[in-house]
Amino acid sequence: MQISTQSGHLPESSAGALVVALFEDSGALEGVAADVDAALGGMISQLVREGEVKGKRNETTLIHTLGRLPSPRVLIVGLAKRDAFDGRILRNAFAVAARQVRRAGAESAAVAVEPLLGAGRTAQAIVEGMTLGLYTFTRHKKPPEEERDLHELILLAPDGSQEAVEDGVERGRIGAEATNWVRDLSNEPANFMTPSDLAERAQQVAEELGLECEVFERPEIEEMGMGAFLGVAQGSRQPPKLIVLHYRGGAPDGPTLGLVGKGITFDSGGISIKPSQGMQEMKSDMTGGAEAIATVRALAQLKAKLNVTAVVPATENMPGGSAQRPGDVVQAMNGTTIEVLNTDAEGRLILADALCYATRLGLSPIVDVATLTGAMTVTLGNVAFGAMTNSEGLYRRINEAAEAAGERVWELPLFEEYREKLDSDVADIKNISGGGASTIIGGFFLKEFVGDVPWAHLDIASVDHSDEVKGIFVKGASGTGVRTLIALGLSLAERPLSD
Ligand code: BES
Ligand code: ZN
Ligand code: ZN
Repeated sequence: MQISTQSGHLPESSAGALVVALFEDSGALEGVAADVDAALGGMISQLVREGEVKGKRNETTLIHTLGRLPSPRVLIVGLAKRDAFDGRILRNAFAVAARQVRRAGAESAAVAVEPLLGAGRTAQAIVEGMTLGLYTFTRHKKPPEEERDLHELILLAPDGSQEAVEDGVERGRIGAEATNWVRDLSNEPANFMTPSDLAERAQQVAEELGLECEVFERPEIEEMGMGAFLGVAQGSRQPPKLIVLHYRGGAPDGPTLGLVGKGITFDSGGISIKPSQGMQEMKSDMTGGAEAIATVRALAQLKAKLNVTAVVPATENMPGGSAQRPGDVVQAMNGTTIEVLNTDAEGRLILADALCYATRLGLSPIVDVATLTGAMTVTLGNVAFGAMTNSEGLYRRINEAAEAAGERVWELPLFEEYREKLDSDVADIKNISGGGASTIIGGFFLKEFVGDVPWAHLDIASVDHSDEVKGIFVKGASGTGVRTLIALGLSLAERPLSD
């Protein structure tokens, strides 16, 4: 979507639709709503009086202006009650509004930025909401006969806040495009998103932005001693790739944030094969990897003043004739031996080696992001993702970043008592345990491979996918997590973790 910032009054601007947001029970109309109402001869206030427009959350009303205004349509969207207002409500309202405007056939929309959260943050939330809400994944479908799309957004900045609005637009656009980039990769069927395809996408990003990207092939992965990663990869015809993408925007001797992402391009479960019902969703088991890459991309586009490196082990988890068997023992890069009791707990195996590699590079702090356990959905539903950490300071920063992004994270405990559940009779550690808490067990497993480096593990399995169209979400991949990671990067650029 083409986005421009202008000055001026909304009733006078010319677009396919004007979007006007309204609080519930707000009494007499104020601000932009009052201006548009006056230009329409009191039509909006009449609809409010008659109870047709209530301003309820995400309620939309389409008005045809029939020549009274330069724009043929006004779309009113509800923001619910003023005292419950926040960025999430604004983002979702504008996502819903954008879809309604598109449905009405408008190809452009104009919105006046009212400084509800300050001009910059308001503009950012509007742009995020609209860009995320309009997302579609149609690459594999015949194009519709009539190609009309909402492709232009005009934001009107209040006097004196042009610059703040422009900054907000830029941050909003980059964050939402990063999310949609992740959605594209996660929605892509596994036959179009192999480990090689994922590596190619990372290389494209590097080329576009002048970043350094390394892609290590099987012989190099063998040489580095990544036996846990290779054990998972050995059941697939697709060669594994270790993707490493660097952005260096900070001081050369400054810290480098490490983002380690699970890049399983299809998770059949391996020999511990998954039930066929729903298995197709496992094409998205590389979301964490895509998020790590997308975050580096966004931070580079934003010219953030920090160093950040994404490390993404990419492979399929398949039950081929040479697949690893339950009971096999593999050795990770740091020498730890692992008894593989369930080949479907593969994410932690590939991440073990990637985390070792990240610590060898000296990355700190390290945040890993992964669709690691189905139990995450049992724990938090699709509302929040889980975090486990060895650094409460890092968790606080992640929590603040999620809040700023309008995403929700919740910490799960790594109590010492869980550790012994991973004791193995034949190796240093096993990859699963009975007795519940499988999300935490997954986190504990990963903790073994980060040493003393401040680290957090984000299990995004709960929020990865939406099965309905709702607010900023459409059906399919959600891309949730990437805007939190971008906000974390920006926050660390301003104030390193040690402060
Ligand atoms: N990729 C899955 C986790 C997953 C499940 C993500 C559903 C998104 C939706 C992961 O590799 C897996 O299979 N985990 C197992 C772990 C178990 C064997 C300890 C699980 O959660 O069942
Ligand atoms: Zn699995
Ligand atoms: Zn998996």
